Amino acid sequence: MVRAEFGSEFEWGVSSAAFQTEGAWDAEGKGHSIWDVFTGRKGKIKDAQHARIACNFYHCYREDIALVRALNIPNFRFSVAWPRIFPAGVGQPNPKGMDFYERVVDHCLELGITPWLTLYHWDLPQALQDKGGWTNRDVLFWMEEYAGYVTRRLGDRVKHWMVLNEPAVFTGAGYFFGVHAPGLTGLRNFFPAAHHATLAMGQIGRLIRSEVRGAQIGTTFSCSSIHPASGGERDVKAAIRADALINRLFIEPILGMGYPIDDLKALRGIEKYMQVGDEKALPFDFDFIGIQNYTREVVASSFFVPYLQARLVPAAKRKVPGITAMGWEVFPPAIYEMIKKFSAYPGIPKLFVTENGAAFPDQVVSGRVKDQQRLSYLQDHLGQVLRAKREGLNVHGYFVWTLTDNFEWAEGYHAPFGLVHVDFATQQRTVKDSGHWYASFLSEQ
Ligand code: NOJ
Repeated sequence: MVRAEFGSEFEWGVSSAAFQTEGAWDAEGKGHSIWDVFTGRKGKIKDAQHARIACNFYHCYREDIALVRALNIPNFRFSVAWPRIFPAGVGQPNPKGMDFYERVVDHCLELGITPWLTLYHWDLPQALQDKGGWTNRDVLFWMEEYAGYVTRRLGDRVKHWMVLNEPAVFTGAGYFFGVHAPGLTGLRNFFPAAHHATLAMGQIGRLIRSEVRGAQIGTTFSCSSIHPASGGERDVKAAIRADALINRLFIEPILGMGYPIDDLKALRGIEKYMQVGDEKALPFDFDFIGIQNYTREVVASSFFVPYLQARLVPAAKRKVPGITAMGWEVFPPAIYEMIKKFSAYPGIPKLFVTENGAAFPDQVVSGRVKDQQRLSYLQDHLGQVLRAKREGLNVHGYFVWTLTDNFEWAEGYHAPFGLVHVDFATQQRTVKDSGHWYASFLSEQ
């Protein structure tokens, strides 16, 4: 497999996010995010780890962007931390916070790297959570103020914008299961959060279109291919319900298809939060959709799981050839299946894989990290992307998650995904074998 097989227009990149990398949690006027607060709560993060320093990207950004360059990666996806820009969520902006992202963008451009900017990668200002966060419909106004400010400041130099990162995960884990910030639970939190997140994608998409000339506007979705645990009718139907929740809930209203209530009746509860005009406000013609795939899910019918009546069979309970440090099955065809599924939707101009990668424990031995499992994972997944591309499916780019090992949410530092190893005691970076491989793959024409 060589780069040229993907065509010269294919976009190659690496993705990261503010909270997971920046550290500097209270530097230069930054406000607290829901993750700053959540990581301080007992029992929420493995070994009580936090991200107050993380990879110190706030101070090491020049060095890390130089690594992007050294690895021959032409596109760098990162996110802006909303509470750096508006410490209280809205109102008075913090000029020093904005200056930081100006420097990041300028440094990318100086090195010939194209910045791809995510506006919301889960670090909501705590001040807004105190007013209900995503459950409060006012979040639409709050986010307009924030997104308006950032686009006006960076829109002359940044042309690739993503509104939300994985709404299914931040509303599901954060507002239903309570395992991510802000740690809320239940459908009365999940439904309004999900509806407001869906509305925000269209509303902020429209705002970017009016503010940034020549913008390529997208948003990113988590997705997993769903396989029924057996050929029996009950498991097959359970898989359809799980697919509606995991893969379809957020993309379909954007495409004007409404919420997938027909296949998951419990979603009817979301209608309670719909207001007059919402049906028309939900769709938006994004220039691209980012899909983020890591694994598949095997689904069995279950009477014990309320609403969904389906459960995910953990990879550890199945016979699988490989499992990552996240407990996820290594199943490369999943990425092909998801590209195929999203390509079948009418109304998506372009798909990019905006995240794919794997966490495995690593060791630095004499200055080298032999991460053969991650390397194979990346090669096998890229092979599946190429298969999709050859079949003429709508895939136009691939971004590895992620540049440097970083703070993996509830897993803390126990699930390193980086192409570059970070020794968190010294902040020393070591390019892993997977990073060297990606660099040489990208250098071949
Ligand atoms: C999805 C998220 O966008 C990112 O923040 C996370 O680290 C990776 N997947 C891996 O779980």
